[in-house]
Amino acid sequence: MQSNEKRAAYQSFIETVRAVLEDEKHPVTKMATIACLGKQHLPTYFWVGFYCMVEGELVVGPYQGSLGCLRIALGRGVCGASAAQRKTLVVEDVHAFADHIACDAASNSEIVVPILNKQGELLGVFDVDSTEFGSFDAIDQEFLEALMNEHFSDCDRLM
Ligand code: SME
Repeated sequence: MQSNEKRAAYQSFIETVRAVLEDEKHPVTKMATIACLGKQHLPTYFWVGFYCMVEGELVVGPYQGSLGCLRIALGRGVCGASAAQRKTLVVEDVHAFADHIACDAASNSEIVVPILNKQGELLGVFDVDSTEFGSFDAIDQEFLEALMNEHFSDCDRLM
């Protein structure tokens, strides 16, 4: 996907989410809507969804795609590493990532964005997988960090 096409797809995704979620406060409803609209707007999204911090571990939340792992310990896999480091991880080849958890062998690249609230508490992570290598870059990071901040910075918890 070319950069200009990707930016246009993200603009449309983000504006649609904003319009649909106007006045919506429940985090589960927001997560389900974002996963659905992400899958519809970005053709590279093979698996898209949320892992939520529940009692010290990441528990799968709303998602679109094939069966995801149910629970991920902090520090494990790309999701656990992003949560532990509280930073976005862009992985061009998941098979080269030492501790990658393969929920579906079809995934080849991935981006994971941590979700923090205004108090700086870690609420969970947003995870997107692609069947192609090197699908994600600084454009995905920029839009997805802004999207998570816009919709979850006022939340106490995701689930
Ligand atoms: N690949 C992830 C696990 C979650 S799934 O891909 C849905 C990881 O290593 O964190």
